[in-house]
Amino acid sequence: MYSIPGSTPAAPSNRMADTTTPDAPQITDTSGARTVAEVLNGSQVEAVLQELDRDLVGLAPVKARIQEIAALLVIDKLRINLGLTSHAASLHMCFSGNPGTGKTTVAMRMAQILHRLGYVRKGHLVSVTRDDLVGQYIGHTAPKTKEVLKRAMGGVLFIDEAYYLYRPENERDYGQEAIEILLQVMENHRDDLVVILAGYKDRMDTFFQSNPGMSSRIAHHLDFPDYTVPELLEISNKTIALQNYRFGAGAEAAFEQYLKLRVTQAHFANARSVRNALERARLRQAGRLFADRNRVLSADDLCTIEAQDILASRVFQIAQAS
Ligand SMILES: Nc1ncnc2c1ncn2[C@@H]1O[C@H](COP(=O)(O)OP(=O)(O)OP(=O)(O)O)[C@@H](O)[C@H]1O
Ligand SMILES: [Mg+2]
Repeated sequence: MYSIPGSTPAAPSNRMADTTTPDAPQITDTSGARTVAEVLNGSQVEAVLQELDRDLVGLAPVKARIQEIAALLVIDKLRINLGLTSHAASLHMCFSGNPGTGKTTVAMRMAQILHRLGYVRKGHLVSVTRDDLVGQYIGHTAPKTKEVLKRAMGGVLFIDEAYYLYRPENERDYGQEAIEILLQVMENHRDDLVVILAGYKDRMDTFFQSNPGMSSRIAHHLDFPDYTVPELLEISNKTIALQNYRFGAGAEAAFEQYLKLRVTQAHFANARSVRNALERARLRQAGRLFADRNRVLSADDLCTIEAQDILASRVFQIAQAS
């Protein structure tokens, strides 16, 4: 058996993203709770659920599944309090969906929920890919994987594009070694580590078919749908409002037009593409204002993205050319 001591956190590596700092709410002891309300009040988990609902546009099926999981955890807590359950439920998950559909963002919220309900000690999220787990040479993989697991103990280990761990074309691929260590730790440390595997749905399905051991340890599968254009527009409005910008006359309609074209073009990545497009619109706005050296710029000028800042995008030219 591989032993992963959870008490000594490893030095942070700059390649792995430790995306969240452990949140430290005033969680009261819920070990005497007998009602759902007592668990909810003590854990403050409802605040995370409400924030998730408020901050994230769309994702109705994902939000519904998270509510279900939270309900299950609360009831489990009450069962534990009455001595009806002694073992921790397996909470490993799979988040499948296209790029930019919110998988990492939701995983961070999930880590908070699990922490507030006392399922993990710290509630941080360690986000890795194959390269963080698998070595290049004999003997390198086990220490790498164990190091990552040590860092993730007490929180959530998020493995992006998890299917790259398994390379059937190469019989002696070291990814298999990482998978075996993960499987053991997912079983033996499931009361203090939740693993979330993420990636494209079809590739995840193929990965699970070839790795039944992994498949059987995943308790919850969450599918992240692509966003619709109205949802993407709502995400845009939320994003610019947070940055203290707004769309000027005709700019929102131009951006809607932009989105309708962009979703049909190559490398579209949902909310991530929206973010990038808005960054470029800000660049163009800055360029436009910069060109006019002597103009006194009001707060309104500095905060407004005009239609021309959107319409200058290459996306319109590509659409015209095709
Ligand atoms: N529903 C949403 N509402 C608002 N913002 C969102 C939503 N979904 C994603 N975003 C934003 O879009 C960006 C990309 O999201 P995130 O990284 O969670 O997606 P992902 O599915 O993990 O993507 P990737 O596969 O590219 O890693 C983030 O900045 C996130 O805040
Ligand atoms: Mg991500």
